[in-house]
Amino acid sequence: MQRKNPLFIFVSIFSIIFALASYIKIFHDTTEKALATSNALSYRGCIVTLIRSDNLISLNKLLNMLNSLQLYFKNIHQYPIYLFHEPTLTNETKQQILYCASKLRINFYEIYFNITIQSNRSGYASMCQFWSYDIWFKYNFLQNKCDYVMRFDDDSYLINSTQYDLFEYFHKNQYDYAYRSIYSDNNGLDFIQDNLRTFLPTNHTRRGCIQSICTFLNGPHGYDGLAVYNNFFLMRLNLFYENPIVEKYLKQLISINAFYRYRVGDANIQTISLLLIEKSLKISYLNFPYNHNVHGAGHDSTSFSFYANTAFMWHYQMKKPNITCSKVFIATKYTLIEKNL
Ligand SMILES: *[C@@H]1O[C@H](CO)[C@@H](O)[C@H](O)[C@H]1NC(C)=O
Ligand SMILES: *[C@@H]1O[C@H](CO)[C@@H](O)[C@H](O)[C@H]1NC(C)=O
Ligand SMILES: *[C@@H]1O[C@H](CO)[C@@H](O)[C@H](O)[C@H]1NC(C)=O
Ligand SMILES: *[C@@H]1O[C@H](CO)[C@@H](O)[C@H](O)[C@H]1NC(C)=O
Ligand SMILES: *[C@@H]1O[C@H](CO)[C@@H](O)[C@H](O)[C@H]1NC(C)=O
Ligand SMILES: *[C@@H]1O[C@H](CO)[C@@H](O)[C@H](O)[C@H]1NC(C)=O
Repeated sequence: MQRKNPLFIFVSIFSIIFALASYIKIFHDTTEKALATSNALSYRGCIVTLIRSDNLISLNKLLNMLNSLQLYFKNIHQYPIYLFHEPTLTNETKQQILYCASKLRINFYEIYFNITIQSNRSGYASMCQFWSYDIWFKYNFLQNKCDYVMRFDDDSYLINSTQYDLFEYFHKNQYDYAYRSIYSDNNGLDFIQDNLRTFLPTNHTRRGCIQSICTFLNGPHGYDGLAVYNNFFLMRLNLFYENPIVEKYLKQLISINAFYRYRVGDANIQTISLLLIEKSLKISYLNFPYNHNVHGAGHDSTSFSFYANTAFMWHYQMKKPNITCSKVFIATKYTLIEKNL
């Protein structure tokens, strides 16, 4: 019998294993593609972001956020991401976003702010008005495309796996609205209280709750600043269209340029919009590991803490060109984590 070279045997076995592995991988990839394109979902979930401006830091943060979705958002390939932006966003920057986040389903949508009163905070005011009113009532772009809308800002990012598909969970439970955290925001509170007292009938004191936390909306006590930390929210899109009180409330704010004239924040206004709806809603807390810049709400935490030890380093990284193209920088309590895609 011919004696075989041990190296030959080794190479042969290795080749067979390699061929088998390739076959399994190809099979797996095509199955995954088939699943993704079969569009078997009975609902349409959309992720929505407003791009602040086209400077380096916001671009880095945006890519950090998008890459965190790619890494940690369960079933991300099923959901389109709509990036709303002003005309100042250059084609070059768009190309870089598409290049760095090439695995995501990114779409751009151009918007215009109508700054009625110029001031050093009119950019911020435009942003607040966008998330309160424009996104639902100035543009009807999302209406034919989404059943559920999730806001995820460029300065938010996931810090670990969501474990479950947030849209699927929301859909399965037939929620109207879901949030990550609740706080109290007192910016422009005097104006908001007076305005609500004028807006609501004086002979009927109204009260509203986010799950078990309640506030009056008018009457002797008035609205106390209760707010959803709405840098993240997930909403059934039709909720605001089915309840005309919301548009009526927002329209009267717009008509007096409230966002530009008073220090009104979008967290309060969105919360009040929800509370004005009289029929009972299914509002839920969602638990997933989430950061807003260098403030974090880790697993099981209902509130945010400031990561003093890593804040400086995180902000420092965000100033370096192209640093987050294929990485996610995660501020945590003690260390700055750098994850490669
Ligand atoms: C940017 O791209 C769009 C189409 O993708 C094109 O219509 C427009 O002219 C481009 N703008 C510049 C400044 O090149
Ligand atoms: C901008 O706002 C002003 C004041 O509210 C309004 O009169 C005008 O029609 C708006 N312009 C556009 C283009 O929306
Ligand atoms: C913006 O302007 C107001 C006065 O209108 C001033 O009190 C405030 O300090 C200014 N803020 C900034 C950041 O420049
Ligand atoms: C992410 O979650 C896993 C468990 O799901 C845990 O082992 C790991 O430590 C978490 N990572 C961070 C950075 O918190
Ligand atoms: C409040 O007053 C209006 C008329 O101004 C009346 O139609 C309504 O029934 C009153 N509501 C309550 C709760 O008394
Ligand atoms: C940005 O970084 C990526 C790798 O993360 C690289 O492929 C790309 O060429 C870089 N782009 C620029 C403009 O330097």
